[in-house]
This record gives sequence, structure tokens and C-alpha cells, in this order.
Amino acid sequence: MTATKIIKLTEIDSTNYFAMNLAMKPDTEEFTVVWADEQTSGRGEGNNFWESEAGKNLTFSIILKPCFLKIEQQFFLSKAISLAIANFLQPIAGHISVKWPNDIYWKNKKICGILIENIVEQNIIRNSIAGIGLNINQEKFLSNAPNPVSLKNIMKQDYDLEFCLKEILLQIERFYQLLIEEKFDEINQLYLSCLYRFDEFAAFKTGKGIFQAKIIRVEDSGELVLELTSGETQKFFFKEIEFMH
Ligand code: BTN
Repeated sequence: MTATKIIKLTEIDSTNYFAMNLAMKPDTEEFTVVWADEQTSGRGEGNNFWESEAGKNLTFSIILKPCFLKIEQQFFLSKAISLAIANFLQPIAGHISVKWPNDIYWKNKKICGILIENIVEQNIIRNSIAGIGLNINQEKFLSNAPNPVSLKNIMKQDYDLEFCLKEILLQIERFYQLLIEEKFDEINQLYLSCLYRFDEFAAFKTGKGIFQAKIIRVEDSGELVLELTSGETQKFFFKEIEFMH
């Protein structure tokens, strides 16, 4: 296993900010992990706040240097990280899927969010900060997030955070290795095999309204490809479409 340095913080604004600053320093090694008990400005997708009770969950960021990926391949990193988390959770809780683009779901509830931020230079991803918020031992969620759930809500028991983190890091290494080996077809196949609502008609919402469609593919660019009931195919980038519950 690659030696992974874990920096444990009691409190920080956001592990992604901290990791991003660290990644800029020339002597920072790939796979350095920044893990905090508490984030005062934990960030979610779209500038939402990421709710996490102090010391109850995993909130961490891992510094990656995927300079072997071109910008147009960056969604593969998102797929690899999602698969790593899903593969950690599936044997414990079952019913785990990846909701496009990279939320981890248990049944119809969100158990983990991923925020990946890249520093790109000359068409190459120099640094990538993969921030992961995984709900583990928190029992009650107070924010207006629509459907949070934790491992404890599901399994009715507490889990050791450090043990979980180390298992997840092993899974991240495993899927990152597939990226290094350019096993993109395998990653695509695994991603589709655990994609939430893949190949089933369900309700989606865009600026134009609510409609029924099924996911038939995800492009390498990350675009979601839907087949409408009319048989027509349409593609959507993140934020252009919402899943209806
Ligand atoms: C989402 O909204 O789905 C993404 C949530 C990502 C939260 C994690 S917690 C660790 C890291 N630091 C942050 O500020 N955000 C990410």
C-alpha cells in the first residue's frame, strides 16, 4: 500500500481548503489526507453547507495528483472515488448506489457527498482535492438537506471512524490504480452497474418542467444521457437536471 500521511485536525473551516493550500506546496505528497473532527464551513456542491456533527462522521479530503488524466477525462476521477465509497459501504449496509454524478445513496437517501476540486495547468490536472463527507454515527440531521441518512441510522450501531477511513483509503487506492492503468472501460462498466435509477423510467425535472425518462448512458464528459418516453435522447450536464423523489 502507498504510504498515506493522515493529518488529523480538531477543527477547520473546510478540509478541502486546507488540502488545497497544502497541495500547492512542492513537498506535499500525493495521497496526503486531511481529516477533521469538525468543519466550521464544510462545503457541499453548489456552495451548500455540508452538515456534519463534530466527531460523529468522516469529513476528509485526499490530495491526488492525477497528471496522467487530461481535462476531458476528469469525470473518471469522480467515478473512481464514487466507486471506492460505494464498495466500502455496500458490504456493510447493502442497497448502495451512486446517484449521478457522484452522490452515494442508500436506497433513496444520501449517505455521502463528494466534492472534487481540480487545479488544472496546460490541459493537465496537477492537483485534485477529493473531499468526502460520509455520514457515519450522526443520528439526527438539522439542515434542510432533503434526505440525509447515516450508517448508524441504517445499522443501529456505531462505527469506528479511523477504521472506516483506512478501509475507504484502501478502496480509493484500488480504483485510482484502475485509472493509472487506463482501465476506463472497466470503470465505466462498474459505474453503470451501481448507478441509481439506471435503465428505469423515473421522473426528472429541468427548467422546462417534469418529465419521465430513463438513464441509458453517462458520457466520458460526465453528461447524463436520458431516453425520453418518445424515444428521443437528450444529454444533460450537472445542474441542468434534477432527480424527482
Ligand atoms: C455534496 O454536497 O454532495 C458534497 C459534500 C462534500 C463534503 C465534504 S466534507 C469534507 C470536504 N470538505 C468540505 O468542505 N467539503 C467536503
